[in-house]
Amino acid sequence: MIGAGYLGSVTGVCLAKLGHDIIFVDKDKRKLTQIRQKKPPVFEPGLDELLMQVEVGVEEDLQRAVRNTDICFVCVGTPNNELNGHIDLTEVRRTSEEIGKAIGRNQLVVIKSTVMPGAMEKEIIPILEKNGKKLGTDFGVCVNPEFLREGTAINDFLHPDRIIIGEANTESGDCLSNLYREFDCPILRVDLKTAEMIKLASNCFLATKISFINELGNICKLMGIDVYKVATGMAYDPRIGDKFLSAGIGFGGSCLPKDLAGLITMARDEVNYQPKLLQSVMSVNNSQPLRAIELLKKYIPNLDGQHIGVLGLAFKPGTDDVRDSPAIKVIKELLAQKAIPEAYDPRAMTNFRTLFPQIEYRELKDVMKCRAIMIITEWAEFVELDYKGKIVIDGRRLAKANGAEIYEGVCW
Ligand code: UDX
Repeated sequence: MIGAGYLGSVTGVCLAKLGHDIIFVDKDKRKLTQIRQKKPPVFEPGLDELLMQVEVGVEEDLQRAVRNTDICFVCVGTPNNELNGHIDLTEVRRTSEEIGKAIGRNQLVVIKSTVMPGAMEKEIIPILEKNGKKLGTDFGVCVNPEFLREGTAINDFLHPDRIIIGEANTESGDCLSNLYREFDCPILRVDLKTAEMIKLASNCFLATKISFINELGNICKLMGIDVYKVATGMAYDPRIGDKFLSAGIGFGGSCLPKDLAGLITMARDEVNYQPKLLQSVMSVNNSQPLRAIELLKKYIPNLDGQHIGVLGLAFKPGTDDVRDSPAIKVIKELLAQKAIPEAYDPRAMTNFRTLFPQIEYRELKDVMKCRAIMIITEWAEFVELDYKGKIVIDGRRLAKANGAEIYEGVCW
């Protein structure tokens, strides 16, 4: 398991639970130390208990780990390159370089990290073959995208809706399919770039669904209609369903924004196609947090010097992950308007502080002393708070907050 982050740690510990021998490799030695001490390297509900139930190895030398294993899962980060929106393959390339030097007993290399369609054939396989090794004789290759959601990742891994196997050749696909033989979900075997595209397309559809309900919410709010009741009525149609129709301050996380930007950039720059719909999905999402600030300014037109309570920094409850969290845009705009944010999050303050060391991080009870409160993440502990006498701008539909002196939902 190369990469012991959100994806690698859950995948490795779950495979160990299923009886496989797992060795973790990560360039961040702290992660390996934590795993040695049976401590989860990232926050994910249930990961600590599961880690106590299994025996896993850690290895600082990637090449030695490759020589001692049959299957190499690549679970390293593929962040968005801020400048050009492309998915940054630096980590994947570096890891493939190392694997290529050690591989040779017909091991299988499985890319679980999200890469753009075509990356495996165009970039990764050539790197693996750089040392004279040959795909098909010295090693096999699969693309095996993950569909884990942070906060429910263990359940999502152990009970997937489907397993997608992109295979360079039948033997590679057979080997990976055998690893998943105990799973009782459909296993779809396709070529490499189709597997890469299935992952991207799935995330971009989810992003589209969220921006759709947010745009509908913006319209409904202006017409005095409750978009949550509209969503309830829509959901009876099984073609629509009731999932991912919760209007709010927008989507964040390490996947949806990055994959959406990646597909937009690839379409535009590689195949010269302007993805108008996907660009609108991104634009609606980017403006949703700013709509929340505009609502706040309806009641406090001049935010200069105003203490504003911010409840929630993680991109969603159940995680400490702040990547692309809507809270980033909210805090940025509050600072631009010279407001004084006072932030609280039960899990994500440490991570958020690396992005915004200059703002105040407070206890929940102290944030609630602010007259104006913005709800950005729907943590359960925010539901039962006493919002009486407050101005509340709610980004995540916490019904109880409705008891505030002034209450505005971002799109309801
Ligand atoms: C997502 C995909 O769901 C998962 O399949 C993929 O493997 C990784 O990316 P994740 O990013 O962990 O998972 O969280 P998810 O539950 O999808 O939520 C993403 C964002 O959308 C969050 O910010 C959440 O608040 C927001 N969201 C979700 C909405 O705003 N409305 C909704 O109805 C659902």
